Amino acid sequence: MPCQAIRGVDYRRDSLALILVTGGRGHLGANLVRRLMDDSHQVRVLVRPGNDNGALRGLDVHVVYGDLRDRVSLNTAVRGCDRIYHCAALLSTMRGREREIYACNVLGTRNLLAAARDAGVTRVVVTGSLSAIGHDPYRPVDEQMPFYPFGKQLPYSHTKALVEHECLKAVVDGLDTVIATSTAILGPNDFTPSRMGRVLLDFAHRRLPAYVPGGFEFVSAADVVEGHLLAMERGRAGHKYIFSTQFLAMDELMDLYQEVTGVKRPPLRVPEPLMAGIAAVSEAIVGRLFPSVALQVTPAAVRFLRMRPRADCAKAHRELGYRPTSIADGVAAAYECFRQRGLIHRAGRAGSGIRRSERVR
Ligand SMILES: NC(=O)c1ccc[n+]([C@@H]2O[C@H](COP(=O)([O-])OP(=O)(O)OC[C@H]3O[C@@H](n4cnc5c(N)ncnc54)[C@H](OP(=O)(O)O)[C@@H]3O)[C@@H](O)[C@H]2O)c1
Repeated sequence: MPCQAIRGVDYRRDSLALILVTGGRGHLGANLVRRLMDDSHQVRVLVRPGNDNGALRGLDVHVVYGDLRDRVSLNTAVRGCDRIYHCAALLSTMRGREREIYACNVLGTRNLLAAARDAGVTRVVVTGSLSAIGHDPYRPVDEQMPFYPFGKQLPYSHTKALVEHECLKAVVDGLDTVIATSTAILGPNDFTPSRMGRVLLDFAHRRLPAYVPGGFEFVSAADVVEGHLLAMERGRAGHKYIFSTQFLAMDELMDLYQEVTGVKRPPLRVPEPLMAGIAAVSEAIVGRLFPSVALQVTPAAVRFLRMRPRADCAKAHRELGYRPTSIADGVAAAYECFRQRGLIHRAGRAGSGIRRSERVR
């Protein structure tokens, strides 16, 4: 694999250059756009027409309408841009949308990288996913752990692994591309909202009847944004960097939600095999009859939690100077943002009592 030397350019200080963010209305994109604007950058966002969730309302960004599947719209989006953060993707833990997920994530990334190369873009940072890295039950996984394509992998995970191949192909073709791998994001500016955002809203409104044990790697939105900036500034072309804040068992996450919302955690802790069965039945029935309904739990989400994946961010730490902050801050910021937008009506108590920067272990 070709490895270019670390560039000497300080991308963060070059505020005159135009930066394109794809998926700017998404959870990560909305946080990244705000951070870039706080750092006085000129930002353009690629969004699909008709899906306005309010994430960009009131922001002084240049909006270009297009779709990753439409190469012509991407040529317009990248024109005049110096660098790109490619955050857009179709996320799904349900089955049944394989072709659409493949077209958006894999072919869409191929289209975008080709357009970027033709337009002379300096560097592209592409968001990756921990689900596209292999699993080891005995130790945290790092960037070296290969994705295992068989077994019960989700179509989404497959596509995120193939997105990485597109990035490496682009590097071979001369486009400077770095992969910034995210774990599950918790944080503010979650306008859609995301699966984890919906869990927090349900928790705050006492609509979460039960939870599953298990655990996952979580990253605060601020940390994954910082990781993307570091990857742009210091990452090596063709390399991948994992950005996470910490592993949390679901019991710890429920404790954290209880502290932040002031609402008592659900009394029911459903054993993992039982929840896997319930999720499979609800996906089969609800997923088939009402495909647009977002399920609280899917079989894939339960499987991920049961695997308790752990991530090792040593490479990002060592090469980029990445220093994760606190997942408690991310949850508190997510809660506060929902509250300010009027999405949380019944606060458990005023003030969460949680200290900023307190880490849950
Ligand atoms: N959220 C997580 O926990 C997590 C974990 C690991 C990795 N990631 C990665 O992080 C990135 C951002 O995720 P997120 O949480 O911000 O997801 P998100 O909130 O669902 O946002 C994804 C964005 O991508 C856009 N998009 C999807 N298909 C598109 C297409 N064909 N053309 C143009 N735009 C398209 C969506 O636009 P519309 O609004 O028009 O649909 C949406 O704004 C993704 O690459 C994802 O794989 C996320």
